[in-house]
Amino acid sequence: MDITETTDVLVVGSGIGGCATALAAARAGAEVTLATKATEPEHAASWWAQGGIAVTRTAPESFKADILAASDDTADPEAVELLVENAKPAVEDVLFETLSIPFDGDEEEYAYGREAAHSKRRILHVDASTGRHILGPFLNHLSSLESVTIHQDTAALELITHEGRVHGAYVEHDGDVQPVFAGATVLATGGVGELYPQSTNPDGSTGDGIAMAALAGASVRDMEYVQFHPTVYTGDDPFLLSEAVRGEGAFLRNGDGERFMPEIHADAELAPRDVVARAVATEYERTGDVLLDVSPLDFEDEFPDLAAMCADRAIDWREGIPVSPAEHFLCGGIAVDTEGKTTLDRLFAVGECSATGVHGANRLASTSLLEGLVWGLRAGDAAAGFEPDRIEAPELLDRDPALAEGFGEDKSVRLRRVMEEYVGLERSPEGLQRATGVLRRLKGEVDAYIRTRTSRELYELRGKSVSALLIARAAAENERSKGCHYLTEPAHAD
Ligand code: SIN
Repeated sequence: MDITETTDVLVVGSGIGGCATALAAARAGAEVTLATKATEPEHAASWWAQGGIAVTRTAPESFKADILAASDDTADPEAVELLVENAKPAVEDVLFETLSIPFDGDEEEYAYGREAAHSKRRILHVDASTGRHILGPFLNHLSSLESVTIHQDTAALELITHEGRVHGAYVEHDGDVQPVFAGATVLATGGVGELYPQSTNPDGSTGDGIAMAALAGASVRDMEYVQFHPTVYTGDDPFLLSEAVRGEGAFLRNGDGERFMPEIHADAELAPRDVVARAVATEYERTGDVLLDVSPLDFEDEFPDLAAMCADRAIDWREGIPVSPAEHFLCGGIAVDTEGKTTLDRLFAVGECSATGVHGANRLASTSLLEGLVWGLRAGDAAAGFEPDRIEAPELLDRDPALAEGFGEDKSVRLRRVMEEYVGLERSPEGLQRATGVLRRLKGEVDAYIRTRTSRELYELRGKSVSALLIARAAAENERSKGCHYLTEPAHAD
């Protein structure tokens, strides 16, 4: 493997949070090593972000109020304040000046979009494929910097820790494993889509960073809040239909042809995402179908990317697009402060694997790219100030190629079944107890293998089993039904 054995800052992951961290650390004078499992930019969830990036325009107070309201008043007001106050400078610095992202509209008047639970138009976007228009140029820019080295197809398996301090990570490439010692280590490993049968996340969203951090003793928070997106195409080759489509006037009809959202919430299709997702699931179950009706829009003209995706799958969008909810975003994760610092010395986390407190129990649309950007810049700056220590690190076990292919598929299937049935859109205390028991046993089975063998697949399975157990356990311990943690029989209704 040609990866350096020591670096100032080791960033793990190549979504917007990892990229922003690498940029800020390099600007602060650090040598940065970015290790990512991805072999293509689209292996990061940021690539798939459609709606865009919410920004603070002239009304920061309304932006803060919308984030808090969408979270059912569970978001941390200080974190929200920090996000909103830093949105404009971060976007101007990185997305306008450094990367020149061609957002729809022009500098005189961007075509700000609107999505559910936003009281105003404030979302910068490039058609409905904003993520790829940001991530591609971002990675190209980082590749042009001398102090940043990007290693693709390189997975972090385990943190190197000594007396409460994190000194880097063991990384794997092509079956070889080696330690990388770092002054600071930043986890930007994304979400947990592979815990559920349907997810908008790319493959490889296996909760690796969350598992590594938790096993090393870092605190996690808000793990029970798993967000489902209400409108994902239900047929073969599913894809997300951005909330921006509803923001422009599309509505939802059930299998009986009836529009149902106005009876459920005053904001109808623009209600908070958890409310719409549950309503879609209920109507789907009750009437056998839910359609996204785009007839109020000039769909082809306003959303050419989505119209093209429909055409690729021979969907006649004029008849309505069949949709149902799918796992989309983990609102919780590794607990971090305002600079992305975790509870372990010299370990940082940014993006979806982290929990800044901004989202609380339910994330407001188009705040995840923003959170990754704002916290990434802050974490990169804070992480740049440490010298790497080379410590005596034990060898990380022999690899066993026999395990590389297909190992654990039955366990992954079992895990997804349990998560879907008991830890999905709706939960009950009994179901959560049951899930916790099954997942604890499953994690035990994986741990037994990890003690004697090493392979990326095995570590991904561990990432899934640890994250799933953390989610189920947090859900079982939280008797308050809020946002994405919806209990069918809550002990406390408020
Ligand atoms: C969407 O475009 O609907 C997704 C936006 C988000 O999850 O923030």
